[in-house]
Amino acid sequence: MSSPILVTCGLPYANGACHLGHLRTYVPADIFVRGLKKLNKEVLFVCGSDAHGTPIVVNAEAQGMTPKALVTRYHQHFDEVFKGMGINFDLFGDTDDAACHNRTQEMVKALMDGGHVYPREIELAYCPKCERFLPDRYVEGECPYCGKPARGDECDMGCGRHLEPGEIKNAVCKVCGGKAQYRKQVHYFFKLSEFKDFLLDYLPTLGGTTSARNYAIEWVRQELKDWCITRNMAWGVKFPGHDDLVVYVWVDAPIGYVAFTEEWCASHGRDWKDYWKDGAKIIHFIGGDIVYHHCIFWPAMLKGAGYTLPSAVVASGMLKIDDKKFSKSRGNVIWVKEDYLERGLHPDLLRYYLASYTAHNKEVNFSWKIFADKVNTELVGAFGNFINRGLTFTVKNFQGRVPAGEIDRDVMAKIEETMNDVVSGLEEYEFKKAADAVMSLADYGNIYFQSHEPWKLVKTDMVAAGAVLKSCLQISKALALLMEPVMPSKMQNAWKQLGFKDAVADRPFSEAINPIAEGSLLGTPEILFTRMEDAAIKELDRIFADRMKEAEAKEKSGVKGAEKKGEISFEEFSSLDIRIGQIKEAGAIKGSKKLLKLQVDIGGEIRQVVAGIAEAYPTEELVGTQVVVLVNLKPAKLFGIESQAMLLAADRAGKAVLLQPRVAVEIGTKVR
Ligand code: MF3
Ligand code: ZN
Repeated sequence: MSSPILVTCGLPYANGACHLGHLRTYVPADIFVRGLKKLNKEVLFVCGSDAHGTPIVVNAEAQGMTPKALVTRYHQHFDEVFKGMGINFDLFGDTDDAACHNRTQEMVKALMDGGHVYPREIELAYCPKCERFLPDRYVEGECPYCGKPARGDECDMGCGRHLEPGEIKNAVCKVCGGKAQYRKQVHYFFKLSEFKDFLLDYLPTLGGTTSARNYAIEWVRQELKDWCITRNMAWGVKFPGHDDLVVYVWVDAPIGYVAFTEEWCASHGRDWKDYWKDGAKIIHFIGGDIVYHHCIFWPAMLKGAGYTLPSAVVASGMLKIDDKKFSKSRGNVIWVKEDYLERGLHPDLLRYYLASYTAHNKEVNFSWKIFADKVNTELVGAFGNFINRGLTFTVKNFQGRVPAGEIDRDVMAKIEETMNDVVSGLEEYEFKKAADAVMSLADYGNIYFQSHEPWKLVKTDMVAAGAVLKSCLQISKALALLMEPVMPSKMQNAWKQLGFKDAVADRPFSEAINPIAEGSLLGTPEILFTRMEDAAIKELDRIFADRMKEAEAKEKSGVKGAEKKGEISFEEFSSLDIRIGQIKEAGAIKGSKKLLKLQVDIGGEIRQVVAGIAEAYPTEELVGTQVVVLVNLKPAKLFGIESQAMLLAADRAGKAVLLQPRVAVEIGTKVR
């Protein structure tokens, strides 16, 4: 027996619902696995929820629930949606499973024993107010490389770099909004830099998408920094020997691939080492945004700990909706459960769209209009129509039995050619090539039926008519077999209509050139695909447009609850004297927990300001900061102290957040 194959999919964060962007990776991976099974390969397909990391903790906190409860909720959601989409993992685990904790600790220990991990004292963002270190998403600031606003571990609005703890500039605590300090602490680093030569040897042999491989090689050539693999958190996998530290989420997440294999093997009497220690073929399907982790960090970890290296990394292109970059916050998103499955749309239609729209490593554009066009022209008009014509015609004229006769040689040759294209498409991770090949066989079938005019032949030559129909039925059989990886449930239906009693998923591709048996009874023909009507498309478009509008309105108003105010003229706006000032002194006010007395320079003039910011900022931090000041507000007395201007601020969870110019400007500069 050849060595087994393991296929994995990038683990979705159990931190939000499944959207179309996710499926861009999972659907092709499922198609691939179904294809391998049809080539009689032994293949195991695993995935699971990515349960750890700061976004989940931050989000759970915001929703007033435990990280575990949040993870459980989304884990069930993903499991349900994947099943609904016909994505058949052998195991869908969770990185908070015991198996994952154990395997992570084992691998980290192996890396430590091998001398690949070392301690180093680093300066980390620390929030004095929250009295805690600020790992990853707990901190926001500026990217040290490109200066764009960035989050703790990733410059996601700028250069896209992975950021190491302590690297972010002008750090602000995400929880309280306060300015972070930098404090020294010992953390543990993985010697990634040591793996440079190994990676330069290994990467050129890595299969999968060329773009992923080349990107990784380029990266390794340029810079390889050691990775800090510990974090100050409670949620996660404990770092061996240190109860106050957990490992970075990008350490235990890919180790989930190993742990899920172990879990599956344990319940199937198999040895997980056949996969991870003994040179199985390991193929990772991932989104194009996490190539760095899978092609650099992960192989180095596997190498260091003595595990089997991946043989391919298949990275999908990203998703656009209506030609705009997909964005949850802008409402440019399609939720798989709510917008698709729950509206009664068939999973196979979307699977076909995702497979056939473009090459796997390119960007997919989704729109309901294109979706409907594809369904109506390709699936209803060509594919479904052909199968239906051959079947109904045979049922009517040959008592529902496969007629006698030789199958046309040209037809068999075309089927064989299609089969080869499907197989090579899958082997090259070109799912469009595979889907297009099958679709072109359907087109061929329609032309064959049309040009051989069986409706005329039945009147003159029943034998000839029978042979034509038998050839058509053979094409239909091939269509069902070859398209099954893409549209499993629709093809099962077609298979049944052709009179087969078993599961088309269990039949190999090669069955496509095995002649359909003369005299066998066909099933009852039914419509395979139904037209998408204009009204239905309009309705789907409307839901989508409404969501975009809602998100836009939300963005404009700042917060959800902000009330709308009447319009003002530019003159009215101009009558406000707003300037950039600088806080010179800040002190407490006796008897008030909320207010501070400030002296603010507004450009050659000092104003006394009483501001309700005592709970949000410690006084020593305020001195020297630039603020936005409304200068010509009528003075008022608070706690007996005159306030001669007002600082502009926003509200965040009941605490004031001072507005500031994005970069320092001259004191006294007018805001207009
Ligand atoms: N949760 C990560 C993401 O969505 C992917 C983790 S993939 C794994 O970007 F390899 F780390 F498991
Ligand atoms: Zn950057």
